[in-house]
Amino acid sequence: MALNLVMLGPPGAGKGTQAERFAREHGIPKVSTGDILREAVHSGSELGREVEAVMDRGELVGDDLIIGIVRERLSRPDAAGGFVLDGFPRTAAQANALDDITAARGAVICVEIQVPDEELVRRVRGRRVCEDCGANADAFVHLADALPDLCQSTERCRTVGPKWVARSDDSETVVRERLKIYWRDTRPMIEYYSSRPTFRRIDGMQTPEQVREALVSAAASALGLPPAQLRSLVAKKLGAQA
Ligand code: AP5
Repeated sequence: MALNLVMLGPPGAGKGTQAERFAREHGIPKVSTGDILREAVHSGSELGREVEAVMDRGELVGDDLIIGIVRERLSRPDAAGGFVLDGFPRTAAQANALDDITAARGAVICVEIQVPDEELVRRVRGRRVCEDCGANADAFVHLADALPDLCQSTERCRTVGPKWVARSDDSETVVRERLKIYWRDTRPMIEYYSSRPTFRRIDGMQTPEQVREALVSAAASALGLPPAQLRSLVAKKLGAQA
């Protein structure tokens, strides 16, 4: 059994914050489609040039493109023991593709973080990220013990320090557009997952630490395991493959 976790929820719910920490604590990769696309934009690659305007409008990039990215990323050896997916799937086509990609990989835990719209707008408008590595400034406050890992990932961050900027899609107009698209395209897809035995909902209107605890409990209960056994699941799976 591997530790396959999908984080679901609207923009600003805390998916990225929690995915980052859960992945680090359980020794599995965090696969964030938003981060992958932002890195491509930042590097000026062909993919980045293709998606930049779409992201800045708050719209979704094409299903085929994003499914190809996730399929390739999950095929890498470091994802054999499990993964945390953040920002994927977002449409019915992506959900179907994920079922296909994970068909032979054991149970997939899906956790939806719930937060009211006005709080989402407040959080996203206040967010600042490091222009160079994408680390989240709020996370420094909330997850102080994670500080060394959060903004030192590039040479510039280590030597010059973080440069805090607003994300180009975090203006109020674009956030409201992202929420509209979420309710139209993504929320119905979450209903599709909600009847599965490995689906859980958690309250995102708690402190990040409380949400973290709720996430670990939800993931463990979805697999019928005590929380402490989640990590050994990954070690066993990777050991069996070695
Ligand atoms: P993406 O990067 O995935 O953005 P998103 O889903 O809109 O989510 P966010 O990153 O805004 O929020 P989050 O839930 O991760 O919250 P976070 O932890 O950062 O996608 C961006 C764009 O890429 C899309 O619009 C689309 O164009 C494209 N894209 C990506 N994936 C795609 C796909 N699959 N298909 C098509 N297109 C795709 O937290 C938010 C803030 O709140 C932070 O400041 C944080 O510190 C703070 N916070 C977190 N938890 C708490 C808490 N408990 N209490 C108070 N504050 C908190």
